[in-house]
Amino acid sequence: MAADRPQSDAETAQLTPSEALAALEWYRAAGVDMAISEAPVDRFAASAPPRRPTVPPPAPISAAPQHSPPPSPGAFPGTAPNADPAESKAIAAAAETLDALKAAMEQFEGCALKRRATQLVFADGNPEAEIMLVGEGPGEQEDLIGKPFVGRAGQLLDRMLGAIGLDRTKVYIANMVPWRPPGNRAPSPEEMAQCAPFLIRQVELVQPKILVTLGNVPTKALFETSQGITRVRGQLRDLTVGSYSLKGLATLHPAYLLRTPANKALAWQDMLALKAAIAPSATVED
Ligand code: URA
Repeated sequence: MAADRPQSDAETAQLTPSEALAALEWYRAAGVDMAISEAPVDRFAASAPPRRPTVPPPAPISAAPQHSPPPSPGAFPGTAPNADPAESKAIAAAAETLDALKAAMEQFEGCALKRRATQLVFADGNPEAEIMLVGEGPGEQEDLIGKPFVGRAGQLLDRMLGAIGLDRTKVYIANMVPWRPPGNRAPSPEEMAQCAPFLIRQVELVQPKILVTLGNVPTKALFETSQGITRVRGQLRDLTVGSYSLKGLATLHPAYLLRTPANKALAWQDMLALKAAIAPSATVED
């Protein structure tokens, strides 16, 4: 504890040595072990709450139109509801390679998710792979590291793939939105619309034979269905993604499986369906 040196009568008066020692002892007993200034400080005044700023009087109500449009109904916090998906569509269509697409996405400013994210999470795995997995969007770990599915859900995904002899050298992994939605919320419809052209272009450039959707969000978007994942999962279906046709297989999201491990049995059936589809005898090009 420190004390501002008091300018008391006792100090200005001449103290005898024993009075000075007694005063020091009194300070020491109170926990004071140093003097920090010559002048006393009014600590009560210093800790008084700051005065509230003066609130300007309300502007007169005017019939003139407002300049910023109101948020669209259902807009999610932090979204840019008026960003035009046609912009990402044109940018994605112009990319001739995955590298060009990644570079274009790094320059793209039309999705509000980007402003809150640490970095772009483009993809992981083998761009030559016959299997492409699509998740929902990066989480905290993915946002920090810059690769999809590297957190706990990703570790489970690796184990699911490993169970049927696959790993990241044999699959390509991306997400519906490549920037982390704040607080891991689901991407808004606006964000999905802005980012979907990038994912679609990734599929067209990778040209996998099978697309595996992980959970509801990519399944509804890419299977163009309103049916829930529990109805769609496990069945090999014909899909068209952009200008490219392939087989699609939906399965449960590994993050969901971490929360409800009883459903791992269903995911195991889906992994077996995937294994059967990629077996040499399987006619996945049918
Ligand atoms: N969940 C996803 O959908 N994608 C990731 O990359 C990580 C977690």
